[in-house]
Amino acid sequence: MKDTGKIEHRIEELRKTINHHNYRYYVLDRPEISDAEYDTFMRELKRLETEHPELIALDSPTQRVGAPPIEAFGVLEHPEPLLSLANAFSYEDLATWHKRVTNLLGERDFDFVCEPKIDGLAVALTYVDGLLVTGATRGDGYRGENITQNLKTIRSIPLSIPKEVPHRFEVRGEVYLPRAGFRKLNDERAKKGLPLFANPRNAAAGSVRQLDSSITASRPLDIFIYGLGPTEGKAVPDTHWEIMLWLKSLGLKVNPDIALYHTIGEAEECYQNWVERRESWPYEADGMVVKVNSITLQQELGNMAHEPRWAIAYKFPAVQGTTRLLDVGINVGRTGSLNPYAILEPIRVGGVVISRAALHNEEDIHRKDIRIGDVVVVQRAGEVIPEIVSPVKSRRTGEEKVFYMPDRCPVCGAEVIKPEDEAMHRCTNAACPSQALERIRHFVSRGAMDINGVGEKLCQALFEAGMVRDVADLYYLSREQLLGLDKMAEKSISNVLNSIEESKNRPLARVIFALGIIHVGEEYAELLAKNFSSIDKLAKATQEEFLLFPSIGPKIANSIVTFFRQEENKRIIEKLRMAGVKLEGKKTKEVKPEELPLAGLEFVLTGKLESLTRQEAEARVKALGGKAGSDVTRKTSYLVVGVTPGSKLAKAQNLGVKTINEEEFLKLLD
Ligand code: IVH
Repeated sequence: MKDTGKIEHRIEELRKTINHHNYRYYVLDRPEISDAEYDTFMRELKRLETEHPELIALDSPTQRVGAPPIEAFGVLEHPEPLLSLANAFSYEDLATWHKRVTNLLGERDFDFVCEPKIDGLAVALTYVDGLLVTGATRGDGYRGENITQNLKTIRSIPLSIPKEVPHRFEVRGEVYLPRAGFRKLNDERAKKGLPLFANPRNAAAGSVRQLDSSITASRPLDIFIYGLGPTEGKAVPDTHWEIMLWLKSLGLKVNPDIALYHTIGEAEECYQNWVERRESWPYEADGMVVKVNSITLQQELGNMAHEPRWAIAYKFPAVQGTTRLLDVGINVGRTGSLNPYAILEPIRVGGVVISRAALHNEEDIHRKDIRIGDVVVVQRAGEVIPEIVSPVKSRRTGEEKVFYMPDRCPVCGAEVIKPEDEAMHRCTNAACPSQALERIRHFVSRGAMDINGVGEKLCQALFEAGMVRDVADLYYLSREQLLGLDKMAEKSISNVLNSIEESKNRPLARVIFALGIIHVGEEYAELLAKNFSSIDKLAKATQEEFLLFPSIGPKIANSIVTFFRQEENKRIIEKLRMAGVKLEGKKTKEVKPEELPLAGLEFVLTGKLESLTRQEAEARVKALGGKAGSDVTRKTSYLVVGVTPGSKLAKAQNLGVKTINEEEFLKLLD
């Protein structure tokens, strides 16, 4: 009696928890726990209810397929219910399913089709006489939302099929947001300060269930069709495999990785292969669906309450998991930026143990409301460093602490500042040891001086041994010094010395990039190298000269000038020169100012230009040797007339100054 009471209590608890997470997932599109954790709760509830059928309640979360439709869309009744799938979490589960099917089918042989299980949103599309007439979400399996308008914005869904097709037929598929689109969408939302989507599935669901279909249209959604619903008229193929080929021939998008197999061993091999490959797919998949191929056999096997017997979802190991955020550590980067990272209670995610995750900056940590001590959802995707998706607020105890950046550098103790227009905090000490090491690492890296054989570890060893304190020291290393380092073999010493020697002749752009000037990435380094033929010319240039480049703003200009003004940097450049590092580019012909195309011409602007700001327009005029005036005088060569011009126009006409429009102005600049 007491035991049943306990079980009843546990069942109640599980239902409450699952209902809470269902609401977060389906209604808010913002889950707090990983799918794997959700599955664990659901499995426990299912097991308890199977063992105690008298305790099953009609409103238990096990008794429904999905969430009820949102009324605002209008409801579409599915002519045949959209079922969900039973899950397998191990090869054993899969083999059990296979055995059951084999038993049910007696002696009859069968094939099956393996398909990636796309993590998106199930939809049903109905075509009548070749025209797409309705599109619906799965809803609770029986009734879905009418989202026809929204689905019509997805380019890979044909609006009509100009082929001979059954009078009426329904196809089913998964709408999803490719990883790249998901990242872009979240980046944009972060910039606007909007809450981020936890994963592509939620982003896809959030995008499709928009009452304003122009929002859906702006999201790069896609679809994979994975099945055929009810049909009327013309006969259709009688195996799933052929149906998929047929749908593909109609122009519907079918996953290119689907495969036909005969033995369960082959299916397992396919699964293992996909577990390896799935990170390289441009979309997220959370498992492999295995389906009996013959439609006749599918019908014979039939369905259980909510799941067919003829198919199963063999889940991939989770790439999301929940764990505790123990603390926030800080790395000091080469530019002095304080980069926070999460120290996690180690957890296995997708077969890899993780104990660290990226946290971008203080603002981001506060926006996500992540606190030290929180249980957090962590996610691993491809090669990318694991990330914290969100805190699980329902697991808070009140002991969690809000994180603030320290006001002293954790490495050297110098003051930390946060420039107003930047997201990062910075250590103000240019000689901070952590910055020095990071600068050396940057200098040797690919894209910079590309010094093969000098990796992160060797940089650290050289730095700690005091042999390399700044980047120029690399060029003064001797064989003897390297021999003194632990584990350095003769051969690798020769390689290292050769690569260092070789790097002396890198193109100027690489050298500029390698110096590690704040805000000067590879592209700016290219631009500077093209326009200044040597480090010395670059070092002598003024802020105003940099501002003449349309793409260089005051922040970058200031950073370059400051860099070359610092004594320490001047010293390093001299040391590099002495060592024989090439600090010049290919010679370019020097153009005298009076030879520039707009030399001797003065431009005045009135009104607004559509393609350039006033500053950009003036900078471009100056870069081509012209002058930018603020008022119209007899000396003005051209008045550039933009949208809603001011009184300058009348003045120019009075004085007989030539006026040109934006298009003509741009031609001159060209
Ligand atoms: S077959 C009765 N195939 O997974 C068969 N489903 O948990 C039901 N899904 O609602 C669907 N990829 O949203 C099938 N290749 C695939 C799938 C797939 C993703 C989703 C679908 C379904 C859910 C079932």
